[in-house]
Amino acid sequence: MRTLEENYYAQTLAEFIRCCDQEIVMLNWIRTRLPIYLQGLHWKRDRTPLRIIGVGSGNGIMDTEIAKIMLPYQRDIDCTAIEPDIEELDRFKRRVNADKMLLGQVSFDWNHCCSEEFEGTLEGNKRDDLKFGTHLVHMLQMLYHVRDLESSLMTYFGQLDASGLMLITLASKQGNEMQAAFQDYERKLQLDKYPTQRNQKRYSDDIIEILKRKGIPYYKENVVYRVDVSECFKERSKAGAKLLDFICLTNATRVYQTLAGTNRKALLESMSEFCSKDIEGRVTLKLSFDAILVYKTPRVNGLKV
Ligand SMILES: C[S@@+](CC[C@H](N)C(=O)[O-])C[C@H]1O[C@@H](n2cnc3c(N)ncnc32)[C@H](O)[C@@H]1O
Repeated sequence: MRTLEENYYAQTLAEFIRCCDQEIVMLNWIRTRLPIYLQGLHWKRDRTPLRIIGVGSGNGIMDTEIAKIMLPYQRDIDCTAIEPDIEELDRFKRRVNADKMLLGQVSFDWNHCCSEEFEGTLEGNKRDDLKFGTHLVHMLQMLYHVRDLESSLMTYFGQLDASGLMLITLASKQGNEMQAAFQDYERKLQLDKYPTQRNQKRYSDDIIEILKRKGIPYYKENVVYRVDVSECFKERSKAGAKLLDFICLTNATRVYQTLAGTNRKALLESMSEFCSKDIEGRVTLKLSFDAILVYKTPRVNGLKV
């Protein structure tokens, strides 16, 4: 095992994005499902801007899509984006500058920092720009990274306006063939006998546990996507090695880094037990994330979703 250095990690991530349809599936979810949850929030009545906070925005592909979903409310939109990776933030800025739909109506305040640092600036209402409540907070595929999950979750929940909504997405264990493959691998190598080595990877269940404990109602949707792992089975494929490294680092039930030799072989055997093969010979595994939605003021009459 070895540590993935930053540049190599970025390459493995790029390989994962190339091989899976998560991005398109999530964009589709935002376009088709999010508007349903926004219905009935009565945001049209006011002339002040709609305020959005995006935490861990990455290159802004989802943030800009969400801003567009809000355009029909015919109010100005102020987006606060938080992202610690400067290169991702630059991509986000370029994306906004190139998008004519956003011009004029949507403004962006980019914060080059991690969530914890930003949360510190919220304490005691120190920020004039955020002293009014936020209409939408979204945290997409990023809560794996915060130091204290409950603290971050509750800080942003506290930031919501009474008519506000919080959207979280995080990997789900439901129907997750990759997770099943890792569990199988661990059983075979008897790694599950060493609980101290257990990975702290977070799943949507960790969010649900906090919300339930706090008595905060939520809606949850399970969203399935697929990753094509065919290259991983090709012995000399560099692309396959990168993809497998990324999968080990982010999708396992504990943190693995580069697997070699018999461990790699054993993992591939486990993966092949759970994957599907299509007529063109493509080998894919099913993964899923949960979209969790929390209203600051619970819906009295429920919501038809
Ligand atoms: C998997 S990406 C998701 C990006 C984006 N939300 C999306 O769905 O396309 C996770 C992002 O979280 C950022 N990140 C990592 N640690 C963070 C932290 N402590 N606070 C805020 N963002 C963080 C990473 O730089 C990365 O851009």
